[in-house]
Amino acid sequence: MKYIEVENYAEMSKKGAALIAAEVVSKPNAVLGLATGSTPVGIYKQLIEWFRNGDLDFSGVTSVNLDEYLGLDGTNPQSYRYFMNDNLFNHVNIDKSRTFVPSGTADDLASEGEAYDKLIKSLGGIDIQLLGIGEDGHIGFNEPDDCFTGPTHVVDLDESTVVANARFFDSIDDVPRKAITMGMASIMQAKKVLLVANGPKKYDIIQKAFFGPITPKVPASILQLHGDLTVIYSKI
Ligand code: GLP
Repeated sequence: MKYIEVENYAEMSKKGAALIAAEVVSKPNAVLGLATGSTPVGIYKQLIEWFRNGDLDFSGVTSVNLDEYLGLDGTNPQSYRYFMNDNLFNHVNIDKSRTFVPSGTADDLASEGEAYDKLIKSLGGIDIQLLGIGEDGHIGFNEPDDCFTGPTHVVDLDESTVVANARFFDSIDDVPRKAITMGMASIMQAKKVLLVANGPKKYDIIQKAFFGPITPKVPASILQLHGDLTVIYSKI
């Protein structure tokens, strides 16, 4: 594991964006695993800036996102599809039809999960997976549990996650209680993993996840077993 502590959010974002940009530059048809949440927003802003300056070309890139709330379609501003369009896809030259987010409105969610895993396989896997981390150690929406779950699956969100994510909604009652998320298998099979976190609220979980025992009670801790993991943490 490469563990990098930086001074501030701007530095975290720039370093994180540089690792993703390096992937796109060295492999123009890269498959990027992307994440939502407030943490990666600075990375997306930096990637957009480099695209606008003519330094990055996303025309051959494919993206697969980690997760989506159940019941929200892409027109809902709180959906992760909307977030990705708004924070990245609408501002770079990626082919929208090559951007994938699990559907939270599929009739058959079990089949949706299977199809999503097949899709990732058919793309040849993920070249670099970007991750944030929840305060309870979740990645994607893989919440603390008694075991690690492999395939893309539906989850009940922990109350702490609902509370943490309520800031994006008008009221806590509007936060969906369920989500569909890529499981640990696809995340662990990504060729590279880049996890970013910032702020004092994330300090304890970063210590637990990367310097403590590997346990499904701290889902991100399994990343310690990944062969190419970079963690970038900024105290502020
Ligand atoms: C959500 C997402 C995660 C993200 C987490 C942390 O639960 N499903 O992928 O890592 O939020 O979000 P933030 O970066 O806003 O702290």
